[in-house]
Amino acid sequence: MAIRGELSLPGDKSISHRALMLAALGEGISRFENLNPGADVNTTKNALINCGVKIDENHGTLSVLGGGLRPFRQPEHAIDCGNSGTTARLMLGLLAAHSIHVQFIGDRSLSKRPMDRVFRPLQQMGANISASRNKFLPLMLSGRELWALDYQLPFASAQVKSAILLAGLHAKGETTVTSPEFSRDHTEQMLRSMGAKIKIKGRNVTVSTLTKPLHAIDLRIPGDFSAAAFFIAAALLVPDSDLIIRGVGVNPTRIAFLNVVQEMGGDITLANQEEIHGEAVADLRIRSSKLKGIQIYPEQIANLIDELPLIAVLASQAEGETVVGGAEELRVKESDRIEAIVSNLMRWGAKIFERPDGFNVEGPTQLSGGEVETFDDHRIAMSLGIASLVSKEPAHFDNPDCVDISYPGFFDELLALTV
Ligand code: S3P
Repeated sequence: MAIRGELSLPGDKSISHRALMLAALGEGISRFENLNPGADVNTTKNALINCGVKIDENHGTLSVLGGGLRPFRQPEHAIDCGNSGTTARLMLGLLAAHSIHVQFIGDRSLSKRPMDRVFRPLQQMGANISASRNKFLPLMLSGRELWALDYQLPFASAQVKSAILLAGLHAKGETTVTSPEFSRDHTEQMLRSMGAKIKIKGRNVTVSTLTKPLHAIDLRIPGDFSAAAFFIAAALLVPDSDLIIRGVGVNPTRIAFLNVVQEMGGDITLANQEEIHGEAVADLRIRSSKLKGIQIYPEQIANLIDELPLIAVLASQAEGETVVGGAEELRVKESDRIEAIVSNLMRWGAKIFERPDGFNVEGPTQLSGGEVETFDDHRIAMSLGIASLVSKEPAHFDNPDCVDISYPGFFDELLALTV
């Protein structure tokens, strides 16, 4: 068996959320191709429609009719954020200054994820947000006038940074967010290419009050790098593989996984690099490689966060020890991803050890395969799907459909590349 051929990927999930939200503040129609087809982005689309934004789909192109500076009307029902942390956190920021009164709710997993990291700074801007369950959903938002904030993030988070910047678009004065480490900068890039006044100085970002609507844009959303990571891992691990992935987003704030995997000995090359609306895009070629373990440091974590469960899989097949530290954020994702990846890989015979802030892996080991407890987490399911390519027995997932959150059709695509 080998992983061979070419593929292109669904659009980047993070960029897709932002594209829909910012297009709402545009003047005229923005058109998007290759929008991420997963459930999370659909959740954002429905949230915006609920707030009166007009969104249409025609032959794979999504059109958003921008409503200018004040595009939102009172929603008819609660904003159901489903499983999507990005929807909940960014929409809170986006809506905080608009005169609507609405409840934010989410599914069981999202209702256990901390929201105070977003509503506390928004409250400092004057936002009227109240929580009946401490720091969790459901939340009540009553939009009102905001003032600017100069905010130092206690930890690197693109969602929190973005929520504050989005609120800052309608706050009085200049809003600045300073991050302790770089995190994905899609909000900043898109704001800039749609004409917002934004200054980026290292880890400081400042936005000014919007005085006119954003420009509408037409954009083909780059392939999702976090989805590419699974296919990169597959091609590296399975002998005799040679895979090309076309049109992948390689924004420098997203691709720490590439650097890590290259350091582990992975053979990956980039070609045909171009830039679209501030986002770097390239084709990737991946060939099977012999991997060695490495040390991953806390300052690398933010740009690698969604790929860490997959790193554990790669590390189980690499020679020597891999150490991941400073990654406690993984415990508050769609599942506790430290517990989820460690328990599954351990059951499959990997030498993996849980730490409060990450894990250690000693490789290589032959994985057994068998039962997978997904914790209803798309990235856990896909990571174990890749691990199963090198396991003795096939994988049996308790909820394979959870991949639909970011990548419906993931398993079929993987199968199609298997020769
Ligand atoms: C995201 C940011 C990251 C990431 C999530 C998507 C975004 O979360 O884990 O999948 O689109 O801004 P944090 O900002 O909470 O680290």
